[in-house]
Amino acid sequence: MSRTTIEAPFSETEIETEAERLLAKLMHVDCDSRHSWNIETCCSVAPLTLEINALKKEKEAIILAHSYVEPEIVYGVADFSGDSYFLSMKAREAKARRIIFSGVVFMAETAKILSPAAEVLVPDRNSGCSLADSLTGEQLRELKAAYPEAGVVCYINSTAEVKAECDVCVTSSNVYKIVAAMPQKQILFVPDRLMADNIRVEMKRRGIEKKIISSDGTCIVHDQFDPNLIAESRTKFPGLKVVSHPECTMEITGKSDYVGSTGGMMDYVKKTEAPYFMMLTECGLVERIEVESPEKRFISGCKLCPYMKMNSLEKIRDILVLPRPEQIVELEESLRVKALHSIDRMFEMS
Ligand code: 13P
Ligand code: SF4
Repeated sequence: MSRTTIEAPFSETEIETEAERLLAKLMHVDCDSRHSWNIETCCSVAPLTLEINALKKEKEAIILAHSYVEPEIVYGVADFSGDSYFLSMKAREAKARRIIFSGVVFMAETAKILSPAAEVLVPDRNSGCSLADSLTGEQLRELKAAYPEAGVVCYINSTAEVKAECDVCVTSSNVYKIVAAMPQKQILFVPDRLMADNIRVEMKRRGIEKKIISSDGTCIVHDQFDPNLIAESRTKFPGLKVVSHPECTMEITGKSDYVGSTGGMMDYVKKTEAPYFMMLTECGLVERIEVESPEKRFISGCKLCPYMKMNSLEKIRDILVLPRPEQIVELEESLRVKALHSIDRMFEMS
C-alpha cells in the first residue's frame, strides 16, 4: 500500500461539526474509566476520526469493530459493529479492498479466511485472546487421536490452525443449536472449558444426550466474575436483571436472568423492562447500550479485556496510512481453505 497523507489539519468548522456528531453519541457513555465525554474530549478526537474516515474512502477500506472496543472507534469510524457472528457475516459479504478489524487477532484471521481477496489488517498484532492462545493445532490433533469417534466443534475464539482441524466452528450465538444438531453423541469442544460446562447444562436441560469433552482454555475476563456478587446485588437492587456471556462459569450463568452472545445480551437489555441491569461481560458492551438505549441503568460489574483495549484511533489511522508487515494478516491457502470449511458449516447449521 502506498503512503498517503490526508491534507490535515481540518478547518475549525469541520472539527466542531465532527465533535458535535461524536458528542451526540458519546455523551451517554458513563462506563468509560478513561474520562467523561464532553465537547472538549470530542474535539480532541475529532481530527483523528475525520482523518480516518477520509482515509477509509481513499484506501477503499471498511472498519469492522467488535462491541468491546472503545466507543470512539465504534461510533466514530466503524462501518459495522457487533458480535463475532455478525462481524463474520459482514467480512464474508465485504466488497472492500481492505478490511481493518478492530477487535482481536483471531477475529481478523477469521475475516481473512472469509474474504481472501481483501487485505485484512489488525491494528495491534499483540491483541490476542486467552482462549485462542490456549490451544495449538498440534494439541488438537492429539486430542482428536485420543477421541477418534468425537464430532469436533471449535469455538470461533481459536486460531486458523485449530479451525482447520474442526468439523464445525461455532460462536456464542449459535453454540447450543449447533452442538444439539451434531450427529455424534461424543463432542470434542475446544478451547473453552467453561463454555463446555455451559453446553453440558444446556444439553441436559433440553433432554439431549451428549458427552462433551473439552480442552482447558478460559477467557481471562469472563472467568473472573464472583457469583456471590449476584446475590448481594439482587438484595441491594430489587428487580435487578443479571446478564452474562456463556464464557462465564456455570455458577454465574446458572444465576443469570439471560445468557448469550454480546449481540444477544444487547438485544435482551434493549427489550427488557427492569430498573437495573448488571452486565457480567466486557465493559465495552455496557457503553454500547448506554449510547443506544440511554434510559437503561447499570450497576457496576463489568470488566475490561486488555486485548480489546489495545485498539485505538491512532493505530487505526497509522495502519491506513501505511501498515507494518505484522499488521497484515496472511494465511497459507491450504490452511485457509480447511479453516473455511468449518466456518461455512457453521453458516449452514446456524
Ligand atoms: P461474541 O461472539 O459474543 O461477540 O464474543 C466474543 C468474545 O470474545 C467474548 O469474550
Ligand atoms: Fe478473548 Fe476474553 Fe478478550 Fe473475548 S473477552 S477477546 S474471549 S480474552
